[in-house]
Amino acid sequence: MRKYKLALVGATGLVGRTARKVLEEKNLPISEYAFFASSKSAGSKIIFMGNEYTVRELTENSFDEGFDFAIFSAGGETSKKYSPIAASKGCVVVDNSSAFRMDKKVPLVVPEVNPCDIKWNNGIIANPNCSTIQAVVPLKPLDDKYTIKRIVYSTYQAVSGAGKAGVDDLENGIKGFPPKKFPYPIINNCLPHIDVFEENGYTKEEIKMINETRKILGKPDLKVTATTVRVPVLNSHSESINVEFENDFNLDELKEILNNSPGIILEDDPSKNIYPLAQNANGHDEVYVGRIRRDESVPYGINMWVVADNIRKGAASNAIQIVEKLIELN
Ligand code: A2P
Repeated sequence: MRKYKLALVGATGLVGRTARKVLEEKNLPISEYAFFASSKSAGSKIIFMGNEYTVRELTENSFDEGFDFAIFSAGGETSKKYSPIAASKGCVVVDNSSAFRMDKKVPLVVPEVNPCDIKWNNGIIANPNCSTIQAVVPLKPLDDKYTIKRIVYSTYQAVSGAGKAGVDDLENGIKGFPPKKFPYPIINNCLPHIDVFEENGYTKEEIKMINETRKILGKPDLKVTATTVRVPVLNSHSESINVEFENDFNLDELKEILNNSPGIILEDDPSKNIYPLAQNANGHDEVYVGRIRRDESVPYGINMWVVADNIRKGAASNAIQIVEKLIELN
């Protein structure tokens, strides 16, 4: 069996550390790993699969050694500069930043939703935004069956989505220190402000959810709107998703479709207080769906509550699932 070489760029960050953990769990047919970061942490040691590795500084020559795959989680600027270099040397990059997501030549992939798009990559595959990934996993099978007409997203996003600085703001805020990353204290607060505001009053996070949903579902004209909110939760994003369909549905059948779809765990028994919770999603790769009920204000609509670990399924695990698919295709 062929063995591959994989580079992890941003190996010391929040997503990079989780990616190492997921790679250890999966034990893919990869015989060589390399871990890159900035000059700041170059030289530091990490233990991976029982062996000690030295973190290396990312340079323009880093991809001369013939990597098959690279996972990038080091921010948009690093991706913009180094992903094309890696791709030009025959490496397939799975990029966690937003740098290439809306590029028409770059597939934007959630393996449970649009695995076929992996095939037309030109050396770079984009990993969607964390809040989009967990939304499209349940939306896809519902769209296939009932045809989605309109989506309204309201998100309740964990501080880990803002990287280590976001986590620090929550942990230090509990001790009474002022925030450094967020514009206001995150303790006892909800901030309707993720990423920067655009001229139309939406934040970039909201625009990402709208545009990425359309691209992944292959419905460029789909009506989608979003309000994204940072909440004082350490990890795992929760989302209220309102969906309107073109066609009528039977609620039990709809739940059964979700129950039988890949990557979904249905947790929906209000009589027993069973519904998805951020605390329960932590450390898992599945998307948890519950509180599914008819939206009685429209002919064919539902509300649902969708929760997932934003660092795993929303970033590291989704990227590694893409690598797994690439290996299957080889
Ligand atoms: P470093 O540890 O050297 O700063 P987070 O999102 O948690 O802040 O993590 C960002 C990750 O991206 C870290 O691993 C960081 O490495 C890495 N990184 C940041 N800038 C660069 C760069 N210019 N080249 C390579 N890696 C970078």
